[in-house]
Amino acid sequence: MKILGIETSCDETAAAVVVTTDDAAKPWVVQSNIIASQTDIHREWGGVVPELASRQHLRDICGVVDRALETAHCTWADIDGLAVTQGPGLVGALLVGVSYAKAAALSLGKPIVPVHHLAGHIESIWLEHGPIPLPAVVLVVSGGHTSLYEVPAPGVYRLVGRTRDDAAGEAFDKVARLLGLGYPGGPVVDRRAKLGNDQAVALPRPRFTGPSRSKPHLEGMTEFSFSGLKSAAVRLLQTRQAHGPLSEQETNDVCASFQRVVVETLVDRTFAAAAALGARSVGISGGVSANSRLRADALTRGQAEGLPVFVPSLSLSTDNAAMIAAAGLRRFEHGAVSSLTFNADPALRMP
Ligand code: KG4
Ligand code: ZN
Repeated sequence: MKILGIETSCDETAAAVVVTTDDAAKPWVVQSNIIASQTDIHREWGGVVPELASRQHLRDICGVVDRALETAHCTWADIDGLAVTQGPGLVGALLVGVSYAKAAALSLGKPIVPVHHLAGHIESIWLEHGPIPLPAVVLVVSGGHTSLYEVPAPGVYRLVGRTRDDAAGEAFDKVARLLGLGYPGGPVVDRRAKLGNDQAVALPRPRFTGPSRSKPHLEGMTEFSFSGLKSAAVRLLQTRQAHGPLSEQETNDVCASFQRVVVETLVDRTFAAAAALGARSVGISGGVSANSRLRADALTRGQAEGLPVFVPSLSLSTDNAAMIAAAGLRRFEHGAVSSLTFNADPALRMP
């Protein structure tokens, strides 16, 4: 089966062709993965401007899909089905992908499935590595989400914890903005952190003692909070910046110290959930999974605890349509086919 995936939930217009194989170790193969990034447009405003995002998706969608088909050396006639991100995300942005995909499905008589954006991030791990030992605990960590899922069987996602306030990527972006490092913040903080001392600046580590809202028996060990850390970093920087701009080294030290606290929190909670749930593997996906320290620390912890850790390659970590095609394939495998009555849903919940 050959699937065209379409993703327009935020500021990337993306289309990809993913095909099934007979190889049980690698059942899905990416034939094309095209992304038109809007970063240069939004950078000027310090973050994503929803109206500008929708307009740019409209300009880009046709060309991006054409490129995805061309790169995969196929035409519409070869496509067996479509998968499109239904939500969550920016409603105007989602509408472009959903309307395009529904129009294509209707006019060409192809089956279509709507996909949850986070299911796409989770399936990016299977797309990269093939089947992984189950049950797995998967951390999805991006600009909009920080959530832990238990995956007991392929395509089954059970929420075990999420952030009570900000997403980790949001905190990276905010700290980078305060340091004048531009948008998006994650990649540049990651780079600068390599040059800094991660113990130079004292920042608080979020702690919870109460029961987890989603899984009371997990005693709060699976939930995240980054607003306190973000506020502490804001206060620290405002106090320090009142005496003049930070030196390059001080900036690097703030990046390294901030990144250390975020990564320690993410890794500790993911492995605590894995232990509590008897997981046989750990997955990490979403834009922040591109972070070099998160990858390195999670792999080291996995080795120490005898738990294999799976992370997608960088091109499948940040938003892309290959992961949406993969999540669509999973739904088609489970027999799902949708009518054309579904609509974009900015607050879509995971099924
Ligand atoms: O998954 P994604 O592309 O979009 C959302 O679904 O939100 O994630 C984008 C987020 C941004 O907050 C960005 O700063 C962060 O991922 N990010 C990183 C890195 N690369 C991207 N955060 C930390 N380190 C990185 N290397
Ligand atoms: Zn995402």
